[in-house]
Amino acid sequence: MRATREGVAEKVVLPGPASKELGESIARRLSLPLLPYEVKVFPDGETRLRFEEKVSGKTVLIVQSTYPPPDQNLFQLLLASHRLSQEGAKVHAVVPYLAYARQDKEFVAGEVVSLGVVSHLLRSGGVSRLTTVDIHSAEGLSLFAIPVYSVSAIPSLVSYVKKNFKLNQPVVVAPDFGGSKRSEAFASLLQAMFVQLSKKRDRVTGQVKVESSKLEVKGRDVLIVDDIISTGGTVRAAGIVLREAGAARVIAVCSHPLLVDDAMEKLGSEGIRDVVGTNTVPSEVSKVDVSEAIAEHLKTVTE
Ligand code: R5P
Repeated sequence: MRATREGVAEKVVLPGPASKELGESIARRLSLPLLPYEVKVFPDGETRLRFEEKVSGKTVLIVQSTYPPPDQNLFQLLLASHRLSQEGAKVHAVVPYLAYARQDKEFVAGEVVSLGVVSHLLRSGGVSRLTTVDIHSAEGLSLFAIPVYSVSAIPSLVSYVKKNFKLNQPVVVAPDFGGSKRSEAFASLLQAMFVQLSKKRDRVTGQVKVESSKLEVKGRDVLIVDDIISTGGTVRAAGIVLREAGAARVIAVCSHPLLVDDAMEKLGSEGIRDVVGTNTVPSEVSKVDVSEAIAEHLKTVTE
């Protein structure tokens, strides 16, 4: 591996087609050069990538989030990592939103463990390190045979909320057990009360039911904190229960605002008009920038 005078491999950042701005911002924060490339998506949806610069001996940080369309964004990452690793670069994939992270086990007999497949594809596609943001579950990390890091967006989300909302006796709510550690960390940084609801999802229809006994939220502002808002079904169901219990304002906070179809309308119809997310996924609510948290983490990865 070619090394600089200090003995550390030269690093460059490739801001992938799905994460141009975020990749450029991470590169700026790390004072690293960008790796130029050409990209073309053909009318049939296939992608062509072309690199001119030699990368042998360098570490390439490929920043490519895999929000919808997940398969296209994932495949573009694989195309880049395959080519660059074949040329002798060490590839560190920075995937702020990691698609398929929710399918980290066989919930229903016969289901494919999709995250395991993603893990295999990344490794065989030449990725030797992976950094993501708020992976859905810690168990998911164990499906990877390469070093994988999950950076927390919670401190940045809390700073944003503190700066932009005047909250009355805030209560932080986790809509289900799975994400409770993350929401609890949010509550502790906000110095707010924490409540965990219980969610049941019908694995066939996708319908969600949220329950809780004795909710002390009357007249208080509530923040529902989750890793992902996809269809909005989970947050909406939690919002209904909280309103019934007398919550004043209900604010939805998430790391990954996928907001598919009419998710925003669904939330709005239950009076949830304040939705805060990060820019791991570009959207109208992606107000919190994760580039600083990612860059700070990348500074600690020395190999
Ligand atoms: C699931 O366990 C996740 O943490 C989220 O709660 C879920 O993915 C949100 O999806 P939706 O918005 O479609 O209910």
